[in-house]
Amino acid sequence: MTAVLRLENVTSGYDGIPINRNVSLDVAEGQILAIVGRNGVGKSTLARTIVGLLRPSSGRIFYGGEDVTFADARHRAMAGIGYVPQGREIFGRLTVEENLSLGASIGARSKEARALPDVYDLFPILRERRWQKGGTLSGGQQQMLAIGRILIGKPKLLVLDEPSDGIQPSIAQEIATLIARLNRTLSLTTVLIEQNIDMVASCANRCIIMEKGSVVAEVEPAQLEDPEFSQRYLAI
Ligand SMILES: Nc1ncnc2c1ncn2[C@@H]1O[C@H](COP(=O)(O)OP(=O)(O)OP(=O)(O)O)[C@@H](O)[C@H]1O
Ligand SMILES: [Mg+2]
Repeated sequence: MTAVLRLENVTSGYDGIPINRNVSLDVAEGQILAIVGRNGVGKSTLARTIVGLLRPSSGRIFYGGEDVTFADARHRAMAGIGYVPQGREIFGRLTVEENLSLGASIGARSKEARALPDVYDLFPILRERRWQKGGTLSGGQQQMLAIGRILIGKPKLLVLDEPSDGIQPSIAQEIATLIARLNRTLSLTTVLIEQNIDMVASCANRCIIMEKGSVVAEVEPAQLEDPEFSQRYLAI
């Protein structure tokens, strides 16, 4: 089966200084691949490289078999790569509905854009709060809004950068359940960048570990709950 996403020896960084070095990975259709690692190892840099906000200095990136190494973020978004950045970046002063409508105006470039009511069906809480300002939502609801806004464009691959960041643990677990549900119901292939081990263990099918910008191991998601693993790869 063709990998939805494939990175071959990708090196990328800022101002000519490499952060990610020789990263190779692939994600098959329908998988939830988790990428875990300590603060500052280069997870967000890798996310930006996957979505086209950063261009690799060497290596190749394939999406659905197409070489997108030199394709910009807009091209990749239109081709079906949906990206929710770390910190969510919703518009705090706009209502839920306005935030989603903006997603719709961007999503409209895709012929198959999903309608707002469909997003509300996926996230009933957002329908209830649709006239509320984004900034007044809880962290978990803001994360749903950020994901909902991306789902309008009907992505085939979802790249989530630390959805649990700034969210209390019980809500993080709800987000994990949500990610698993979207994966199941929409067959959404997902790259989940996370430091929350419980979330990864409960929703990911595969898990790779990053250290100093490189992939150093692949483990079973459940193995992360073994203190020896978390100590080795995540303890500060
Ligand atoms: N825009 C930027 N310009 C220059 N250097 C950057 C930039 N963004 C990040 N870096 C550097 O790249 C390295 C990796 O940062 P990155 O944000 O990718 O790590 P991370 O694994 O996502 O960390 P965290 O878990 O805290 O989100 C860090 O040393 C950081 O200082
Ligand atoms: Mg990060």
